[in-house]
Amino acid sequence: MEKNLEVVINEVKPIIREVGAFIKDAAGKVRLEEIEHKSLNNLVSYVDKTAEERLVKALGPVLPKASFITEEGTVEQGTTEWKWIIDPLDGTTNFLHQIPLFSISIGLMKGDEMQCGWVLDIMHDQLFYAWKDGGAYMNGQSIQVSQQEDFVQSLFVTGFPYGANEMVRGYMDVLHEITLKTRGLRRLGSAAIDLAYVACGKFEGFYEHKLNAWDVSAGVLIVQEAGGVVTDFNGGDDYIFGGQIVATNRHIHEQLRTIIAARLL
Ligand code: IPD
Ligand code: CA
Ligand code: CA
Repeated sequence: MEKNLEVVINEVKPIIREVGAFIKDAAGKVRLEEIEHKSLNNLVSYVDKTAEERLVKALGPVLPKASFITEEGTVEQGTTEWKWIIDPLDGTTNFLHQIPLFSISIGLMKGDEMQCGWVLDIMHDQLFYAWKDGGAYMNGQSIQVSQQEDFVQSLFVTGFPYGANEMVRGYMDVLHEITLKTRGLRRLGSAAIDLAYVACGKFEGFYEHKLNAWDVSAGVLIVQEAGGVVTDFNGGDDYIFGGQIVATNRHIHEQLRTIIAARLL
């Protein structure tokens, strides 16, 4: 029999917090020669890899039939019906530059549907989580998206894709438009936290291009369970593996999405 999702949520909380404590302890201690470049501006250190190994080891027994999709590939990448989708350290550049905004993102998927998601904002000790049809929470408190309906009064967050030079012009055009028409835009450096912040109503919307499933799978469910809406740039549902995401409080979704679609598609 399958485990109740709320039970799974509670079993994972101490696991993500323990690995969060390891990452927090390592902050500021990584030496320059310990930083590797996976590709241009795509950095990694032993902290990301060790955190992933610890998560995989601890999550295995929680659902023995689930396999793993992980950013650092420290475990065989799975194809079973149940899958953990893990970014052991989202915001590595912030982490390495001692900017205190980075997270762990864990999603649990069955088939092609998200079942559970956890995002731990490590330095602020804020654990966001949601399970399918169970609502969204931060440290035990129910969270909801913002009720703002006015695009002009809305605040947005995004990230700039690495290694996508052909898109820079389109990205700048979107920034130009949003800057003129809204309250403004932030770039925080952790997509998982960006999504969590949409879920709890700090931002009206988030969008980014070229993200991976481990960046967004948990945050997507948290936004949806908090009452928000998530699509790809076309308005479709290929936003976890498709590399295009727009996540909003629902009210201003189409206004944001059409600005993006006109310049990035
Ligand atoms: C990155 C962060 C960042 C986003 C990048 C991601 P990483 O993840 O989520 O906000 O803009 O595209 O790659 O590399 O720190 O795990
Ligand atoms: Ca990431
Ligand atoms: Ca990462």
